[in-house]
Amino acid sequence: METLYRNNHEATTTPGTLSAETIASYRNNGFVHIRGILTPEEAAHYQAAALSAAKRLKPLSAGSVFDQLVNVWQEDEAMRALTLHPNVAAVAQALAGVPLRLWHDQILIKQPKKSTPTEFHQDQPYWPHANSANPISAWIALCDVPVERGCMTFLPGSHRRTDLPAQNLGDASSLFNLCPDLRWSPRVTVPIRAGDCTFHHARCAHMATPNVTEEPRVAHIVIFMDETTTYTAKHHVVTDPLGLEEGAPIAGALFPAVGELIQCR
Ligand code: SIN
Ligand code: NI
Repeated sequence: METLYRNNHEATTTPGTLSAETIASYRNNGFVHIRGILTPEEAAHYQAAALSAAKRLKPLSAGSVFDQLVNVWQEDEAMRALTLHPNVAAVAQALAGVPLRLWHDQILIKQPKKSTPTEFHQDQPYWPHANSANPISAWIALCDVPVERGCMTFLPGSHRRTDLPAQNLGDASSLFNLCPDLRWSPRVTVPIRAGDCTFHHARCAHMATPNVTEEPRVAHIVIFMDETTTYTAKHHVVTDPLGLEEGAPIAGALFPAVGELIQCR
């Protein structure tokens, strides 16, 4: 597997190079910083593609926290190649340790000079998911993201809090009002180079700093869920149009299995 991905992508981190310590760190802390999931050339290519897609496609939301474009892979050929990138999917599956499938992607851009923080939240409570204990997001930096451009901060171990309702990512107190213990948790901030990514479990609480620089912060997030995930009927922009019955598998061509993505190479 290592040779396959090195030959095709020259990525420096592959499932074959992931150490047991890195996998254990992800499972223990709920996040991990992975260097070189993309080559610098790939990162530059996809940054241009993401900025171009953001000009053409309608955002789900735009504002001071971030501009958000969801399921870009279904509308943009260039970004499709990143969302379905076999190395990203294979590393995610190796970290999660169970078969996964794509939930959705999103481009998140924090505009220069005028963004606000993305406040602490967990992702999974927003989603209409049951039977998905191992959801994992690849937050891929398409440009260098030092702290002052809007990098991620995590609360290690907070992925074990699977009982919390949805939190408001526009409110700095929301998570801590629901779970006061987490206010005193150590925080890990991860400034990150273009082509690196962080992987986080969708119950690992995280925030992102504001972008106070002159350049946009461009991140592409590829979100995976357990292959076994079923639908709870909670409102969500991705599933609302699909007419799913409560309890139905979230599966099929819109939610490709990682096993298929890896085989497609
Ligand atoms: C951000 O990049 O601003 C936030 C990403 C996330 O909440 O997953
Ligand atoms: Ni989030």
